[in-house]
Amino acid sequence: MSFDLKVRRYDPESGESAYWQDIQVELGPERSVLDAILKFKADTDNSLGIRCSCQAAICGSCGVRINGQSRLACNTQLGVASEEGRSKDGTIVVEPMGNMPVLKDLIVDMDAVHWKKIQRVVPWLLPEGEPPEREYVVPAESMIDITQSMACIQCGACVSACLSMEVDPEFVGPAALAKAYRFVGDPRDSQTEERLRDLAEDPHGIYDCTHCFACIEVCPKDVAPMSQIMRLRRRASGDYGIKDSNNGYGHEKAFVDIVRKYGTLHESQLLPRSYADGSLVKSQVRPDSLKQLAEGLPTVINGLRSGKVSPVKAIWHKKLPDQDQVRRIYHEVESRGERIELNLYIVGDEAEGDEWGPDAGAEAPAMGDAAEVATGPEAGTEQGAAVQ
Ligand code: SF4
Ligand code: SF4
Ligand code: FES
Repeated sequence: MSFDLKVRRYDPESGESAYWQDIQVELGPERSVLDAILKFKADTDNSLGIRCSCQAAICGSCGVRINGQSRLACNTQLGVASEEGRSKDGTIVVEPMGNMPVLKDLIVDMDAVHWKKIQRVVPWLLPEGEPPEREYVVPAESMIDITQSMACIQCGACVSACLSMEVDPEFVGPAALAKAYRFVGDPRDSQTEERLRDLAEDPHGIYDCTHCFACIEVCPKDVAPMSQIMRLRRRASGDYGIKDSNNGYGHEKAFVDIVRKYGTLHESQLLPRSYADGSLVKSQVRPDSLKQLAEGLPTVINGLRSGKVSPVKAIWHKKLPDQDQVRRIYHEVESRGERIELNLYIVGDEAEGDEWGPDAGAEAPAMGDAAEVATGPEAGTEQGAAVQ
């Protein structure tokens, strides 16, 4: 079967502009886009640059954009890519990943962006005191909690797809923040609060994510980086009460409080409350809040001019049906006891009497889901996992 590919070529050292090269390859539809590129290199033009190693979706080195979406070339079948091709004739468009400089053709500079950001979050354990004589013993659920972030193969697909990073290249980013949660969630680490404070205070840290879900969509290993970022936020604000100077805490609190109170979001209150730790009253009397509000005015005026902000809609919010149900959800969740966050990324065989088993009358959440449950102390477990 013949497949048409359109590949982005660029060699910064040549001094020439980037261009598209049309290539045609005879291969079965079950073969991968990487197979097609390697065949073209072997048969026709060995100068085409692409990075790869395992060819089995394990090493993370073959990240590219195929038909505009960041993914692994070795894990994308030609038949599938051809059917979803943006062009009507089924041509598969292959480009280097985004948000990173191109070194040559489909090879991007991972050191300049991805690995630099991973280094930024101190990606190693910082335990305290003398190491134990034998192995560390940590609760099994703690390790399950961080296993999702440990599944990362550092392919950079999420970095390539991140919309916040496109606007703010200094954003620490999805892969590095998922890595940060791997250590924040590890009970052996002694710097949990320091790590959280550092990432909350960084203007390009945990509050720089705009919840666009792009990183979740593209991740080939279901790491769900955005979910790890939300966990970091919950740990920072809920568990450690960290009030950062970027107003991340205030913005989140304002958002939650408004929805809790009205059952919907009143945008006109969001900005003032965000600058005053979530309080509408404080926003009108605190000098620093008033100053920040004044600084935000040009943005509001631009929004009004462009028509993105409508004063009528912002002030007089249309009543939604079932607004009370939203308040009920808050009440339901907040009336429970201690919050325990279970990451259900790993789902194994159900043990007898399993809390999620059929007898419990609840359906087990799907792989990759996370659940926040409130339980009493009796729900804790003494079971431990030995981890080196
Ligand atoms: S959800 Fe956040 S981290 Fe993920 S791609 Fe969007 S902005 Fe980036
Ligand atoms: S989180 Fe997923 S997409 Fe991002 S680098 Fe890790 S494996 Fe790749
Ligand atoms: S070549 Fe290793 S992940 Fe694709």
